[in-house]
Amino acid sequence: MEVKKAWWKEAVVYQIYPRSFCDSNGDGIGDLNGITGKLEYLADLGIDVIWLSPVYKSPNVDNGYDIADYEAIMDEFGTMEDFDRMLEKAHSLGIKIMMDLVVNHTSDQHRWFLEAKKGPDNPYRDYYIWKKPVEGKKYPNNWGASFGAGSVWEWDEASGMFYLHLFAKQMPDLNWANPKVHDEVFGMMTRWLEKGVDGFRMDVINLIAKDPAFPDGAAGSHEFSDFYPVVTNHPNVHVYLQEMYDRVLSHYDTITVGETSNTSTEVAKIYTSETERELNMVFQFDHMGVDNGPHGRWSDRRMDLRDLKKVMSRWQDDLYGQGWNSLYWNNHDQPRVVSRFGNDSDEFREVSAKMLATCLHFMQGTPYIYQGEELGMTNVAFSIDQYEDIDTRDTYYQYVTVEGMPHEEMMRYIHRRSRDNARTPMQWTAGENAGFTTGTPWFLLNPNYTKINAAAQVDDPDSVFAYYKRLIRLRKENPVMVYGKYELLLPEDKDLYVYTRTDEETQLYVVCSFAEKDVQLEIPEEFAGAEVLIANYPEPALDGCVRPYEAFVLKRKL
Ligand code: NOJ
Repeated sequence: MEVKKAWWKEAVVYQIYPRSFCDSNGDGIGDLNGITGKLEYLADLGIDVIWLSPVYKSPNVDNGYDIADYEAIMDEFGTMEDFDRMLEKAHSLGIKIMMDLVVNHTSDQHRWFLEAKKGPDNPYRDYYIWKKPVEGKKYPNNWGASFGAGSVWEWDEASGMFYLHLFAKQMPDLNWANPKVHDEVFGMMTRWLEKGVDGFRMDVINLIAKDPAFPDGAAGSHEFSDFYPVVTNHPNVHVYLQEMYDRVLSHYDTITVGETSNTSTEVAKIYTSETERELNMVFQFDHMGVDNGPHGRWSDRRMDLRDLKKVMSRWQDDLYGQGWNSLYWNNHDQPRVVSRFGNDSDEFREVSAKMLATCLHFMQGTPYIYQGEELGMTNVAFSIDQYEDIDTRDTYYQYVTVEGMPHEEMMRYIHRRSRDNARTPMQWTAGENAGFTTGTPWFLLNPNYTKINAAAQVDDPDSVFAYYKRLIRLRKENPVMVYGKYELLLPEDKDLYVYTRTDEETQLYVVCSFAEKDVQLEIPEEFAGAEVLIANYPEPALDGCVRPYEAFVLKRKL
């Protein structure tokens, strides 16, 4: 099967969480000028695109994912002139900028919502979703909001109605059944594209279309039901995205990725097929659930590698030639992968970080690197009052204070899975505050910055940073890494993730050990004497004894 070529398939994306990236003015909060100052670092790494988490005006209930003005910059991050300078410099270095598009909801401080709250006759009222109380029911339906925030329905005393918020109550959902919302959003997107941005990462985009019946979800062990299975991927999402494509995206050469939890490969093929004209790729979540437990993602379980292989391979196989994958281990909502799927001990951190990078970057799809991943940054273990994330704090309150889970148990889950693991400031140097700020950082640093930091790695040819750099370069030199067909070998092996990538001319043999011990492997004969493309030990284990967290890739001509 022929896989269509596209620049965004060949690109590597780097995600910046601006609040925690680099502070240029000493207020303790990362900002746009801080990013501009680090663009050479990113150009050296070799990435093609930056995904910028929200930089818009926001009261920061959810660190910028609650937007009060889509066309103004958050005060702490700088000005629109700073943004323009960043964009221009990024472009001059050959780096594109992908904006975060958060249009399932706004902040309750957005002008539209302030207007809508004035009453049922306000012209902005139908920009949001309002419901009258239903007799005999406490709320219009049983959906529970994300972040352990109780019902998704918030009572508005003035009008005697509820409004819908799938996330925090300060984040009311937009009403996509109203065509005026489309006009507003599409106009805003067009103005950003006219300014020169290169695409969008679309926040929870598969939640925007609600079933007009707002049906109850299945009852579970908690008071409220999980809304995701009921709300995700309503057929109207495809209608809205195609309209967005026709009216906006088709007029520009963009990169787009939709955040789509709870989505099968069948549905992902619709979102990402080249004929359906919706999105370039989606962020699927199946592999982020392999270590879930009885309380979902609030778990301290370690995954079984066979589950990870099954999930990744399903996405590789099902989308081949029919859609396009994004590849990610990390983002601002996920714990650090080296702590999660690797081993963050002094002995194995570097080698397991490189192994995980190998495993991901040789698959088919567009790889995403989250800030600090290229240094092998790790999880943290703070005390509960030191966490900043609304999700961590509110879920702790719901589980421990309301439902009585023991504090120690919840803290084990938080240490493993909290989003704040990803949000500690970027570790630039071994100096004060890791070189992130000259002021007081808005959030605690991971104390290991004295050892793990960019300054120690950029010039070290054996560093995790140098390894990521090599992976990115290899991708540019080996089209088989982008377009070759994936095949999983040894699906039942508990320790090794082994697969091939094959095109007409070349075959790659990728070996990644997730074990802390030596593991035997029979390397196929046809790879005897093959070129070693990359390896995370000085001499790869071509004798068949794979060492702890070892990874190597062999290449042969067909
Ligand atoms: C997904 C984002 O990645 C997350 O950080 C945010 O809290 C929710 N969407 C709500 O916008």
